[in-house]
Amino acid sequence: MWTDAAGRDQPEKSYGTHQVLTGVDLAVDRGSRVVILGLNGSGKTTLLRILAGEQQPDSGRVVHGHGLRLGYFAQEHDTLVRDHTVRQNLADAAPYLTDGEVRRVLGAFLFSGDDADKTAGVLSDGEKTRLALAGLVHSGANVLLLDEPTNNLDPASRDEVLAAVGSYPGAIVMVTHDEGAIDALRPDRVLLLPDADEDLWDEEYRDLVGLA
Ligand SMILES: Nc1ncnc2c1ncn2[C@@H]1O[C@H](COP(=O)(O)OP(=O)(O)OP(=O)(O)O)[C@@H](O)[C@H]1O
Ligand SMILES: [Mg+2]
Repeated sequence: MWTDAAGRDQPEKSYGTHQVLTGVDLAVDRGSRVVILGLNGSGKTTLLRILAGEQQPDSGRVVHGHGLRLGYFAQEHDTLVRDHTVRQNLADAAPYLTDGEVRRVLGAFLFSGDDADKTAGVLSDGEKTRLALAGLVHSGANVLLLDEPTNNLDPASRDEVLAAVGSYPGAIVMVTHDEGAIDALRPDRVLLLPDADEDLWDEEYRDLVGLA
């Protein structure tokens, strides 16, 4: 997946007269790990939504490579079906899992047997985050777009989610303000918004994570 790599047609986005994104040039190769940093309102969520195809740029384009299977985690618009159970939601998101594997994955993401029969609509924000991420990492996607995936999580849940991020074999593009998520991601590149400067990851960027 890449935005136009020849330096033309890079996505731009404005809301009214407020230009949020200018000329983002980003290529996400197989297995690559990119962290997006920037202050509140700098356009991180807007960019992920454009990469996910949920929002159209005003100009420019995003090219999805052959064989791309995207998984998108958005805290505000999670993909859970509210009146389906926890178990059904995972089975729908990850159709290749057997019933036994669904049980094992729910356990790994800290859902007890009783929790599995709750409807997703009654879950707390942290539980919804856990369930959505459990589905994504087992969905068969090969690129995950994760928008602040550790928000709302208690320490045990955060550990499980970060372990899943750490062992995920595909590419990940992640927005985060959480230094522990950087440790789990082991980014190879960083994209800084609003200027859309891209660079190889350097530990010096760590200072920006908490601020951003
Ligand atoms: N639908 C919309 N209409 C008008 N303005 C919008 C809309 N969506 C986002 N914006 C504005 O675009 C800017 C970027 O928003 P965005 O949600 O992408 O920021 P962000 O970097 O994800 O911030 P945060 O760190 O708070 O999550 C903000 O100034 C926001 O108010
Ligand atoms: Mg955001």
